Amino acid sequence: MPGIPLRNGGPAARIAVIPGDGIGREVTPQAVKVIRAATALTKRPIEFVEFDWGADKYLREGISLPPGAVEMLRDEFDAILFGALGDPRVPSNQHAADILLGLRFKLDLYVNARPVELLHDRLTPLRDRTEKDIRLMVFRENTEGLYVGVGGFFKKGTADEIAVQEDVNSRKGVERIIRYAFEYARQNGLKRVCMSDKSNAMTFAHDLWQRVFKTVRQEYADIDSRHLYIDTLAMEIVRDPRQFDVIVTCNLFGDIISDLGAQLAGGLGLAPSANIHPGKTSLFEPVHGSAPNIAGKGIANPLGSVLASAMMLEYLGWKPEAGALRNAVRAALRQNYVTPDLGGDKRCWHFYLRFTNCVIIMPSRNPPMCAHQATPPEALVPSALIPARNCRRNQYPRMMTAGIGIRKTNTSVRTRARGYSSMYAPMTPEIAPLAPSAGTVELRLKRTWSKPAPSPQTR
Ligand SMILES: NC(=O)c1ccc[n+]([C@@H]2O[C@H](COP(=O)([O-])OP(=O)(O)OC[C@H]3O[C@@H](n4cnc5c(N)ncnc54)[C@H](O)[C@@H]3O)[C@@H](O)[C@H]2O)c1
Repeated sequence: MPGIPLRNGGPAARIAVIPGDGIGREVTPQAVKVIRAATALTKRPIEFVEFDWGADKYLREGISLPPGAVEMLRDEFDAILFGALGDPRVPSNQHAADILLGLRFKLDLYVNARPVELLHDRLTPLRDRTEKDIRLMVFRENTEGLYVGVGGFFKKGTADEIAVQEDVNSRKGVERIIRYAFEYARQNGLKRVCMSDKSNAMTFAHDLWQRVFKTVRQEYADIDSRHLYIDTLAMEIVRDPRQFDVIVTCNLFGDIISDLGAQLAGGLGLAPSANIHPGKTSLFEPVHGSAPNIAGKGIANPLGSVLASAMMLEYLGWKPEAGALRNAVRAALRQNYVTPDLGGDKRCWHFYLRFTNCVIIMPSRNPPMCAHQATPPEALVPSALIPARNCRRNQYPRMMTAGIGIRKTNTSVRTRARGYSSMYAPMTPEIAPLAPSAGTVELRLKRTWSKPAPSPQTR
């Protein structure tokens, strides 16, 4: 997907990690390890500080979001990497509401960006749809609507009980998310924005959405903007997802339609999400919840969290590292190196092992190392990844930056690392663009990181 705007693009970052509950505690550490590996490759300083906020702490100490937490995150961290919250031992889900909704509201993370991107044709349940057909961004308003918790019960527990939940929509809140969607489209060369509501039934709250949309769209004449009722959108997105580039909608509908979109692109295990206040500390998480039904079994898919991490790195302005993560996910999907939810037999931690057993090709900061090198480093794609199948363990560096050049054959890439003998890896779509057309230039690799991959037992 096209990028989301930067926080500041600084040289170093401090990340708060909140794994939370259930599979959040399984997938988040994997994502952290993958980020560490990718940033070690580029020598980018990154610090992680983990917080144990979740059901265990809530049940033990009665604390959900500790006092001062919001200010600390806002002032001392660049971003938050979040797992998931939800535990059957807390039926009210109070701790989750306090922590996740608390952070969204108090950090004013009004943009919930949920890309829907099919990364491999076989993953969609839609017939005859391919990767190029399913590629859109859902922007969900993230701080208002039905999620603000305004409401109450009357005569609770009696036969006459009444329950009320208010849908809160401010002009400021509606306008900023609609404007963000248009700006995102314009900045990324996307031509279509669809605003979705239910203004035919919600004649007050969504009348406001209608009026604001009509005003804001006038400033974006270069973009083809349209409106669909949410029920029609749900139908159309399944019938023909090619119609959509950017969708913007309210909190509740965004929550639901992005899950529908996630399923069209391979399921919840693959779906990432960013909770953003442009320019401020923002929160990145997989779309899925704590999945108590599979927690502790080691079969949770970590790729949603890894893709959310890629969104975070992009937000920090670290595109090569974000690209390395995305390419690694694509390569794993292509090779069916996946967890059971996607039809594979891999465990949650296998992706990291795979990642560190690959050669990651990134533009080198060094000048070309061979005189005959034709392609300047900056012409290389941001990053690419080759599974180093024929690497002998402990003999070769696990991750390397590319000097430049590739010896290309029809089926494989021959690489040569200084001080090491040649190794072979299959030609992949990621690596193909790196090879000059003559296909005879040799790739030299510079070792930047050679820490051996840990065994599964040490995960
Ligand atoms: N952002 C969040 O923290 C968040 C989001 C949604 C739900 N929740 C909470 O999570 C708990 C469980 O909710 P739910 O079951 O409705 O939704 P869920 O997303 O946890 O699970 C839905 C289904 O998808 C599967 N699934 C989800 N993520 C997966 C992954 N990474 N790999 C493989 N399979 C995966 C689960 O096994 C389950 O069958 C509830 O307490 C809910 O409130 C939290």
